[in-house]
Amino acid sequence: MSPPNVRCLFLIFCCLTTSALAAKTRHFRWDVGYMFWSPDCVENVVMAINGQFPGPTIRARAGDTIVVHLHNKLHTEGLVIHWHGIRQLETPWADGTASISQCVINPEEPFVYRFKVDKAGTYFYHGHYGMQRSAGLYGSLIVDVAEGEKEPFHYDGEFNLLLSDWWHQSVHEQEVGLSSNPFRWIGEPQSVLINGRGQYNCSLAAHFNNSTSKLCKIKGDAQCSPHALRVLPNKTYRLRIASTTSLNSLNLAIGNHKMVVVEADGNYVDPVAVENMDIYSGESYSVLITTDQSPSMNYWVSLSVRGRKPNTPPGLTILNYYPNVPAKLPILPPPVSPLWNNYTHSKSFTNKILALESKTPKPPTRFNRRIYLLNTQTKINGFTKWSINNISLVLPSTPYLGSMKHNLKGAFDPKSPPERFSHHYDVMKPAANPNSTHGSGVYVLEFNTTIDIILQNANALAENVSEIHPWHLHGHDFWVLGYGEGKFSEKNDEKKLNLKNPPYRNTAVIFPYGWTALRFVTDNPGVWAFHCHIEPHLHMGMGVIFAEGVNRVKNIPDAAIGCGLTAKLTKNNGL
Ligand code: C2O
Ligand code: CU
Repeated sequence: MSPPNVRCLFLIFCCLTTSALAAKTRHFRWDVGYMFWSPDCVENVVMAINGQFPGPTIRARAGDTIVVHLHNKLHTEGLVIHWHGIRQLETPWADGTASISQCVINPEEPFVYRFKVDKAGTYFYHGHYGMQRSAGLYGSLIVDVAEGEKEPFHYDGEFNLLLSDWWHQSVHEQEVGLSSNPFRWIGEPQSVLINGRGQYNCSLAAHFNNSTSKLCKIKGDAQCSPHALRVLPNKTYRLRIASTTSLNSLNLAIGNHKMVVVEADGNYVDPVAVENMDIYSGESYSVLITTDQSPSMNYWVSLSVRGRKPNTPPGLTILNYYPNVPAKLPILPPPVSPLWNNYTHSKSFTNKILALESKTPKPPTRFNRRIYLLNTQTKINGFTKWSINNISLVLPSTPYLGSMKHNLKGAFDPKSPPERFSHHYDVMKPAANPNSTHGSGVYVLEFNTTIDIILQNANALAENVSEIHPWHLHGHDFWVLGYGEGKFSEKNDEKKLNLKNPPYRNTAVIFPYGWTALRFVTDNPGVWAFHCHIEPHLHMGMGVIFAEGVNRVKNIPDAAIGCGLTAKLTKNNGL
């Protein structure tokens, strides 16, 4: 080879390696087990990762590959971990959904999750088997922009707030109650946790409202002592906020400080300033705050319950202006949040979230298929369930991904679930016949087509009750084309859909008695869950399964398909 060619090859080699060097492979070794812990100052049992609750934060850059070497130390329980908001392009088997993308990881077994984080943003991870998310199996996953790239906004520092809600009753008791007849509801949580910390019965707010009451004494090193947000005056901070609550919708407010929303679910939004913001389970946001208030004091950061009559005190922490000590309680009371049932306020916030057009893909203007999903609370043999088009989801023992890829017969209901519900259904009233059936059928979507979903809310079993449901889609972001009241009407509502700058997200709420219209493109081969992110609702059947381009899926690891009927397959075919 002549010298110039060598030089040329060398240059090519350099280019290839520098781009490869910029993206890193990040390895994590995780042991998952139970431990004693006091998330809200009351001792309980939590699911912990490497002895930490919440689990360790994963931090990476866009383009990196994450490799989590997981070891199940639960002794008697299977386990999976879902990476919420990560689309799993080309790795659908790493989505971490029991019975959907993989078999549960058995006690004492290892499993390796390997996937790419392709897009910067605020994400989290959590258990996706039974109610393990409620048991505390969660943590943050933060993806920074790729090296050399810039965010479309400036900030001097950042904080991460992972929100959750906490019950003193164990998830086993909760599960038994939910699947009993008569039905036993889990009730409202005892505490709202910020980064796994809350204060039961020694609410800092209660203390504040009644200065004669005994001070809630929390030792500095207690497992439940709040972490203050330490800031310097006259700076801009990014708060990354993600909600992995089991049940509660929350409202975040910071005394005297406005927030500018800049990111939602890992996508940039048109910056919008708000006094307080709603956050539903499954959602994440970034907001910017400017520390331009009097630096002589501290301010409350408060998280209060929305959409359900609260029986849970707000979760609190302190915005601590340096050089004040964090323990210096704010002079001003915690910010007043909107009334729990002020849906007008919630809708107005939700409608303010729009895409940052220069940074967001545009939706296709037409759809190929539109699926209507009616959300109802129903009964099956006297047991209380949630159903979609009158089918309550039960997951099969053989994971869909493997059984669909290998064309196994009998692994799940072969019949496709209904595409719509009756025109005559009155969404404002309890169903005339509340009975539904179980099902494990799949919506098989043609690859590379545009799908519309109309989520239709309705009255629950009891009269005058309709609840909020935040719906989360795996494997995709969708465009939220719009929200509306009552029953969606093709004639009147179609023209109201926003095709110009709809937010691009992975979670969207349906308001009581309302509808929400979503659009996405089936460009990610795999089998994907789409479900209400309220843990007990999913547990009671509130979800559906989408499959697309499964024949294109390659290299499903044996460990992800070796259970149920596929166990035989792996043995016989040496897969
Ligand atoms: Cu964060 Cu299927 O869930
Ligand atoms: Cu729900």
